[in-house]
Amino acid sequence: MPLLKPLAVLLGLGLSTTTFAASQIQLDTSTQGALINKNIYGQFAEHLGRGIYEGLWVGAESSIANTKGWRNDVLSALKALHVPLVRWPGGCFADEYHWRDGIGPRANRPVKVNTNWGGVEEDNAVGTHEFFELVELLGAEAYVNGNLGTGSPQEMAEWLEYMTAEGKSTLAELRRKNGREQPFKVDYFAVGNESWGCGGNMTPDFYTHLYKQYTTFLKTPAHNTPKWIASGSHSEDTSWAAYLTTHVKQKMDAVSFHYYTLPTGKWEKKGAALQFPEAEWASTMQRTLAMDGFIRNNKAVMDKQDPEKKVGFYVDEWGTWYDVEKGENPGFLYQQNSLRDAVVAALNFHIFHQHADRVHMTNIAQMVNVLQAMILTDKEKMLLTPTYHAYKMYVPFQDATSVPLKLTGVPQYQVGDISVPAVSATAARTKNGELYLGLVNLNPNQSETTEINLAGIVIASVSGQLLTAAQMDAHNTFEKPHAIEPKPFSAKGNNGRLTLQLPAKSVLVVKVQ
Ligand code: AHR
Repeated sequence: MPLLKPLAVLLGLGLSTTTFAASQIQLDTSTQGALINKNIYGQFAEHLGRGIYEGLWVGAESSIANTKGWRNDVLSALKALHVPLVRWPGGCFADEYHWRDGIGPRANRPVKVNTNWGGVEEDNAVGTHEFFELVELLGAEAYVNGNLGTGSPQEMAEWLEYMTAEGKSTLAELRRKNGREQPFKVDYFAVGNESWGCGGNMTPDFYTHLYKQYTTFLKTPAHNTPKWIASGSHSEDTSWAAYLTTHVKQKMDAVSFHYYTLPTGKWEKKGAALQFPEAEWASTMQRTLAMDGFIRNNKAVMDKQDPEKKVGFYVDEWGTWYDVEKGENPGFLYQQNSLRDAVVAALNFHIFHQHADRVHMTNIAQMVNVLQAMILTDKEKMLLTPTYHAYKMYVPFQDATSVPLKLTGVPQYQVGDISVPAVSATAARTKNGELYLGLVNLNPNQSETTEINLAGIVIASVSGQLLTAAQMDAHNTFEKPHAIEPKPFSAKGNNGRLTLQLPAKSVLVVKVQ
């Protein structure tokens, strides 16, 4: 029975109220949940702002230490996240990207205008070969997003031939001349991006016809065939997933989906990354939790056409999107990252784990210096964001098997007319049989007690890492890069049960022993 204490009655606008109670987590260790595909922890790097140029790529001649042009400090931080895959080159950029611009001697590559992102010059220093060097340095899989919007079936087919052909075709020989003997391993290939918007303002049926036409001509050696991804929709719209799964019966391994968390929900004034009111903390949490319903509804329409769940639902863009930082190019989408972002990331992980039967990949937007980034750089300086720390804490969940759990007695966190459950939890067993729990207390004012019951399995102790801070917008700066970091956490079981105190606004990941 949850222990109910009196309701804290706080009057006045903007003040929060909380019902104090202990939540109960009941794990069902006798049942296996879905595999949490490691690609749920995927990343996205677009030719956008300082995301690739400066954030990742500095060029071999740079005074910043690098490997083949990719900066070493950022590479080594990313390796610690076990980045499973990287999506490239966009985003909206993908539908204006012509792959031939990015091959051959760099001095000969054309300089284009990045019309989507700030109107800046794009000198194509990073192209196909450089991207594959990046993923190979990271030990990650490659997700290449093709150009449907301004390309042609021929251009797309030839890019795939250039990357994967093994024989003596002219394109394979061109790849060799450009320094790559062996074909590249293309793990995932998408036909267009946001075709409902920046990718061409299409309707689902128009896109579906194009998808079938293009994929007819996309051919690769049998042992180097990517998973084919169709561009899907966003937010509450299920029409694209429904239309695509009804009308495309081959060469479609997944439908993509995008959803961004805007504190205000308004594109013209999204809300600030730092120094935001509690009302925007609460609305950010509420809008993040909406992801669950969006996935649920899309799964329901896909289940009708594909009950065996052969087609994946890939959330290949998600994350917080705030007003751009003052003094930055508005087209660069550079934003700070605080404890709030780490909580948002962890809540999304829990949702993705819950839908891991259909959600086999997600890609946070984006890896460095853009939107909800892992890493921020300022020329030679680098810092790790709270979101980075959340990703690192959840590494054990990559390729683990989820353990079903029941969460009851969860108090609501309320601000104004927003009311959301204060606690979120997930559990999984790694390939080595280790049991991990992830917990979030999204209430910024009140610690929460959780009682964990493993149905017969004795819990001796738990140990792991806790991420929390005094301020809702606690963040790292280039002057104080370690202001917010996870701290070691441990607790002992009592008669096989475990009671955990989750501090206000915290993310906790523990191994159960
Ligand atoms: O991640 C930034 C942009 O957001 C992407 O380019 C686009 O796909 C989405 O609208």
